[in-house]
Amino acid sequence: MNIEIFNFKIIGDERGSLIALEECKNIPFKVKRVYYSYNMAEKTRRGSHAHKTLDQILICVKGSCAILMDDGTEKQEVLLDSPEKGLLVGKMAWHEMYGFSQDCVLLVLASDYYDENDYIRNYERFLKECMR
Ligand code: TYD
Repeated sequence: MNIEIFNFKIIGDERGSLIALEECKNIPFKVKRVYYSYNMAEKTRRGSHAHKTLDQILICVKGSCAILMDDGTEKQEVLLDSPEKGLLVGKMAWHEMYGFSQDCVLLVLASDYYDENDYIRNYERFLKECMR
């Protein structure tokens, strides 16, 4: 399946590392929303949905977690363990996040505002939508 991982350019010097994210440059869409999750218990599972139209980039800015990507045909696990990597979770990509390290901070850049109507939270419905 087509997994897109962005390896961001690090602007580093002896003072530390810096990564700049710019819409329509190294982020492939206009960013309307940024959110982050933290304090996840190790056994927590988040996500477990797809979006009809939303594009998102997930970046584990601290710690690590795993993302199960599912396009309705194939599944693939992606490990996010570096602030230098961004995973594209595009429209109609079922995704589940788990295996959170204690210090995990998961930053998400999203192409649109929050809209519950854009979610597909039922896996059977997701599979049906994929076949259309
Ligand atoms: P959800 O997207 O299901 O979280 P995750 O994918 O990390 O498991 O959202 C969890 C709750 O937070 C849900 O009630 C919707 C709400 N929420 C907002 O109000 N605004 C937002 O931008 C997001 C992402 C979620």
